[in-house]
Amino acid sequence: MKIIKFDEIDSTQKYIKDNIIDIEDDTVVCAKVQTAGRGRTGNIWQSKEGGLWFSCVFDVSNVDSKRLELFTMFVGVSVFNVLKELYDIDVKLKWPNDLYINGKKLCGIIAEIIDNKVIIGIGINTNISKEYLITTGTSLLNELNKQVDNGLIMMNICEVLIKNKANFDVEDIVDTFRNNMIYKNEKYFIKSLNKEVIIKDVDENGALVYEENGTIKTIDFGEI
Ligand code: BTN
Repeated sequence: MKIIKFDEIDSTQKYIKDNIIDIEDDTVVCAKVQTAGRGRTGNIWQSKEGGLWFSCVFDVSNVDSKRLELFTMFVGVSVFNVLKELYDIDVKLKWPNDLYINGKKLCGIIAEIIDNKVIIGIGINTNISKEYLITTGTSLLNELNKQVDNGLIMMNICEVLIKNKANFDVEDIVDTFRNNMIYKNEKYFIKSLNKEVIIKDVDENGALVYEENGTIKTIDFGEI
C-alpha cells in the first residue's frame, strides 16, 4: 500500500482520477482539508480539518462480477466493522452505503469505475466539533466525546479492503448490511424515484427492497 498525503487539496477523489495513469494500484490519497470535496450526487462534501478524507484505487480485473456488483456495499460494511471494532459504537448502515449514528450521518462513501479500476472515496466526520456539523450530521468526537486517531482508522480500513477485495464473503457482507440497516419498515423519501416508500430490506444482490402501495419492488445501486 502506498500513501500520498496532502495538507490541502481540492479533492482526493479528483486527484486519483486526474492521475489514474501514474498512480499504482492500492494507493491511498488522504488530505487534512479538501477545498472541493465531492459527494455522491454531485454535491459538495464539507471537508474541514479534523475529519478523515481519503480515496483509494484498486485494480478490480480479478474481481468476479458478483463481487464487483457488491463492491460499494463491501466497502461500507468494512468501514462499519472497523469503526465498531475500534470504538464499540452503535453505528448503522443506510442504503446504499452511508454510515449513521443516532440517526445522523457520520460517513459517506463514493465509488467510481474507470476501466478496470475502482476509485473509492471515504469521508468520515471523525474529529469534527459540533459547531461545524450540519444538523443532520454527527462525528465520532461528538458521539464519543474524545479525539480519535485518523491514521489508525484509515490504515485499518485500507488493510481490510486490500486483503478482502477479491474474496470477501458475499453472504456475510449482505447479511451484515441487512442486520444493521436503518429505516427498516419506515417511510423514506427516495430521491431517484421522487417519492416516499416503505423500506423493507436489501436482497442478495444488494438491491433495496421497498414497498409501494402494497407492492414489493426493488431498486439497484445504479438506479439511485
Ligand atoms: C456522499 O455521501 O455523498 C459521499 C461522500 C464522499 C466524500 C469523500 S471525502 C474523500 C473523497 N474525496 C472526495 O472529494 N469525496 C470523497
